[in-house]
This record gives sequence, C-alpha cells and structure tokens, in this order.
Amino acid sequence: MPGPPDALAALLHESRRFPPPEAFAERAKAGPEVYAEAAADRISWWEEQARQLTWARPWDRALEWELPLAKWFVGGELNVSVNCVDRHVEAGLGDRVAFFWEGEPGDTRTITYAELHQEVCRAANALSELGVRAGETVAIYMPMIPETVFAMLACARLGAPHTVVFGGFSADALRGRVQDCDARTVVTADGGYRRGAPSALKPAVDLALADCPGVRKVLVVRRTGAEVGWVEGRDVWWHDIVDRQPASHTPEMFDAEHPLYIMYTSGTTAKPKGILHTSGGYLTHVATTHRLVFDLEAESDVYWTAADIGWVTGHSYIVYGPLANATTSVLYEGTPDTPSRDRWWQIVERYGVSILYTAPTTIRTFMKWGAGLLEGHDLSSLRLLGSVGEPINPEAWMWYRHHVGGDRCPVVDTWWQTETGGIMLTPLPGVTATKPGAAMVPFPGISAAVVGEDGTPVGAGGAGYLVVTEPWPGMLRGIWGDPERYRDTYWSRFPGCYFAGDGAKLDDDGDIWLLGRVDDVMNVSGHRISTTEIEHALVGHPGVAEAAVVGADDPTTGQAIVAFVTVRGGVAEDSESGARLVVELREHVAREIGPIAKPRQILLTPELPKTRSGKIMRRLLRDVADNRQLGDVTTLLDPSVVDSIKDRMTTAGDGD
Ligand code: PRX
Repeated sequence: MPGPPDALAALLHESRRFPPPEAFAERAKAGPEVYAEAAADRISWWEEQARQLTWARPWDRALEWELPLAKWFVGGELNVSVNCVDRHVEAGLGDRVAFFWEGEPGDTRTITYAELHQEVCRAANALSELGVRAGETVAIYMPMIPETVFAMLACARLGAPHTVVFGGFSADALRGRVQDCDARTVVTADGGYRRGAPSALKPAVDLALADCPGVRKVLVVRRTGAEVGWVEGRDVWWHDIVDRQPASHTPEMFDAEHPLYIMYTSGTTAKPKGILHTSGGYLTHVATTHRLVFDLEAESDVYWTAADIGWVTGHSYIVYGPLANATTSVLYEGTPDTPSRDRWWQIVERYGVSILYTAPTTIRTFMKWGAGLLEGHDLSSLRLLGSVGEPINPEAWMWYRHHVGGDRCPVVDTWWQTETGGIMLTPLPGVTATKPGAAMVPFPGISAAVVGEDGTPVGAGGAGYLVVTEPWPGMLRGIWGDPERYRDTYWSRFPGCYFAGDGAKLDDDGDIWLLGRVDDVMNVSGHRISTTEIEHALVGHPGVAEAAVVGADDPTTGQAIVAFVTVRGGVAEDSESGARLVVELREHVAREIGPIAKPRQILLTPELPKTRSGKIMRRLLRDVADNRQLGDVTTLLDPSVVDSIKDRMTTAGDGD
C-alpha cells in the first residue's frame, strides 16, 4: 500500500487533544459507559437501539449471519416512513418543524411534521396511482427541494426501493442506473437553482429515457418554470397529480430486510455498483448514530447536514436518521457562494443552527475565502461540528473548530461509506478527547481493526488496511444484481472481514487515522470517483487511443483528477489541435459522467509507461502527478517514457 504522504506522517505526531467541555460532557446523550454496555453484548445493545423504533411485529432473531450475507431483526416488520413521520405526529409532535428549507434564490418553506405527513401521504397516493408497487424501483433525479424528501419517504412508505441519482450526473449516468435497477418510474423536476441560475434536469431525463423502454411514468416537479419537453402519456406534473390526493394513506408493513434503497457508487471498474440497503437494520444504525454522534436534543437542536441528498450522507443524515429522531433540520438547495460567500453563515444565524455536518473540502474552500466572511454573523447557536467524506487535514480541523465553532464546539470526524450505511468510526462528543484529523475509534457496537497484508491486526503505531470484523445493522446487503462482485470486492481480501478499501494507521494510543483509498477509487471533494470509469469515458472518444487516470493531491478538493492520454494519430499537446482536443476531452467526460468527473488536467503523451507484460504503471503516474520522486522504474518496458511525461507535466498548463 502507498505510504502516508509527508503531511500525514507529520500529523501522526500530533499531540493536541481536545477533551469535551465539561458542561457538554455532563449532559451528553452518550457517556463513557455506552462503550462498555455495547462491548458487553453487541447484539443486545443493537436490539436495545432497535426498540426505539416503532415495529408492527417484533423480530424473532436479532441477527442471522452467513458470511457475507447478514439479516438483522429477522421476522420483524415495520414501515420506514411511519417511523420517520407518522409516529412523531401521533406522539403530539405534529407542530414541530421537520425542515427549514431554503431555496438558492432565497425562497423559503417551513415544513412541520404534520405537514410532512400530509405531503408524504399525498405523494404515496400519487405514486400508487401511477402504478408504483412494493418491490418496484423508482429513480429520483432531483434538486435539493422538499419534494425530493417527500418522494423518498413516499417510496419507503410503499415499499418501492428508490435510487436517488445525484442531480449533477449526466444523462448517460442516469440511463445506466435506471437500466441497472430496472426502474419503472422516474421522479424529477424541470430543474433546480445552482450558482444563481436555473439548472435544467428534465432534458437529461428525456435523453436518458430514450433508451429505457421500461420506464412508464415520469413525475415532474415544477421548480424553475423553464420550458420542458413533454412525452404525452408518460410525463405527469407533480402539482397535477399529487396536490389532488387525499392527505392520508394507510401504510403497509414490510419485513425488516425489505429493500429500502439502492445507491450507486464508484468501484474499481467502469460500472458503478448499486449498493443495496434494507429497512430495519439500516434505520436502527442511522438513527442511533445520529442521536449519539451528534448528541441530539430533538426538542431544541437545529441540525444541518450540508450535503446533497443524492449522496449517501444525504440519505442517512438528512433524511432517514434525523427524521427517525424527530429532528428539526435545515435543507438548503444551492451553493455556498450564491449570492455571496457568506450564505452558509447567514443560514446558520437565521435558523439558529446548533449542529453542522459537512465535508473537509468545503471547510478548505471557506479557509481559502477567508475567515473574515464569518465575522459579523452570530454563530453562537452552534454547539457541535461534524466532518465526513474524506480525511480531514489537521489545519482544516483546527480552522473549523476555531472559526466556525468558536473553540467551544466539539468536532467529530466521522468515517463511513455508502456501503456501511451509517457512521462507523467517530469520536463521541461528550466522551472522546479528540485529535485534529483522527476519526478515532469505532462507534459502540461496531468492531473494526487495522490489519497488515496478511490480515493480522497491526499494533499501536502500525499502518495497514481498515477492516470491519463483525456484521453491523446498516451494512450493505449486496450489490444489486451482482452477488459475486459483492463477495469479491468486500469479503475476499481478508477472510471473515469486510474490507473497506481504505488505508489506516493506529497511533500510539491505538486511535485510528484514515490514510485514503488504497484502490483505484479517487476522492474528489468528498465524492467517490473511479479512475477506471473516467478512463472508460476517455477511450470512448474517437480521438483517444489509450488513457490512464490517477488522483493527484489537491489542497482544496483533497484529490484531483489527472488524465494521461495517448491520441490516435499522435497529436502534440502544444499544437493548436492538441489544445482543442484537451478542452473537448474534458467536456466529453463531463457529458459522459458529470461535471464532477472533469479532469483537472489532461496530458497528451505519445506513450504511457508500461510493464513488460503491458500493464500501465499507474503508481509512477501518481508520482508524476504529485511531483514526487519516481518509484521503482526497473520493471518498465521503456524507462525513458516517464521522463518525457514528467517533462510535459512541468511544462503543461492547466488543461483548459
Ligand atoms: O475513503 C473513505 C472516504 O470516503 C470513502 C467513502 O465514500 P462514499 O461511499 O462516497 O461515502 C462518503 C460519505 C460517507 C471512504 O472509503 N471517507 C469518508 N469519510 C471519511 C473518509 N476518509 C477519511 N475520513 C473520513 N471521515
């Protein structure tokens, strides 16, 4: 595995410790005893957590485990949307705000639990009328508007698994996902607002569905008012069908293992994996972690996960976890710099946000913009800060703590993945003395280890691979339609353990620091992107002969995409046609996958470095991209190739 970059090696000597403030620790939801309680009997501890949900039928067995297949709360029945909505209204919390929604143009909407209940019922009735049935997948391709949450919960209510496709993905990406999970219904909008302007969604749906004959109905929310193409008989306006539905709906109860959603994420091949999550175990995991990691006081906290619902963070910590806990949340549609770079701090101040959860890349962007933007905003409502999505560098951690948290808010760095469903490694804010940059320890009831190449745990001070050693309630239940890939990807590298694909190190106290991915998956601005997927897109362009993509270190986005491309007919980069091709290739990748997959830099090169057996030496390309001393070149077919690429790298501009 790659050794830790220098910065990481340095931070492992980090000696700063931040114990919870006394007042915080005294009244925290989770005290130190919670670790001992969970360790005494992991399974019963999770059962105790599951009992906080409302079940229509209790489970017979907490866990059935036949590696790699887990079933949690076997025989139990529940309805996820009832747990997120109805039961709170029945408990008298109908007037509590579920969401303070703010659109990017400044329009707002406050939705109470009673209103949420009505909206979800109407949407469920409408989806039923459109033919949606339990077990049939619905694709959701939406901006960050309340209807996205209504649609997800309506699907959950009907037992129709949803697959939310991030609105920044292209028509091609949408098509692949709709086809893979055989969705019959698509919920979308004419568009949403991003960076101060309407950004269309419906045209991409129309394009994608040209090759998806299985889709019968498209439900369209009017958000921007833009003109849209319309397929008679297939397309239906949300306001035409949902608004006229009765505001009540009798839910059916589903098995604890009933599929809740499929979330596509990048793996090491060109084809994204459809990660399957089910109902009872998942909801238990996200509700429990949300309550304890964020020390939730549901009566008084205003909670904000500033992420997109199209990613797993949005599923688990905007929708399912917070709603299961009757939380009041903020939901914001747009970008942090629209109309001005203090938009987030205005939102924190306006709604009195007390818990903020976001990604290091955003924190680094704020650092770049300068702390001055926070001044003049009253951020005193904040009491806890969370980070997720990528390793957080100590500098960003300290900045977050100081400038956003006023040195009084605990910072919890939470490690988890689409596959894990919920948080796995994290401090507990009232218990753990945190270290800037460390995800620290497994959450109670989670068993994880750092192991070496041979699968044996490394001791304090050792580095290796992060594994999960026992099944957990929110774990993925497989890759949609591909059981073999599931077994191979996660369960074959270290027998008996779940292999996360992340490198990690234990410090001298035995606390865990994440070192980034050890496979061909990049993490760009907290988004997982596969090198192979981009290579696949690049070689799909008629001008490209061969492509190799690597992740290079980037001060803001964590990693950045660098592509090395050989061109059919050999075009030189410094020629006019070479420069044109580079621009075209970046656009091509954006069209094929989405703008987030656009390479920061594309280098045209006559050859790629290969071993004698013809394998591209990505390791060397990573060294080149990071401007590091080159590793071993003795296995190269032609060692001079890397030197010539290196020369190009230093002379080339930024690709645009
Ligand atoms: O490499 C780890 C990184 O993000 C990957 C999971 O990405 P995804 O499935 O898209 O989920 C992101 C949101 C949960 C992991 O394999 N990662 C996530 N959180 C952290 C992290 N790396 C270090 N520290 C974290 N806190």
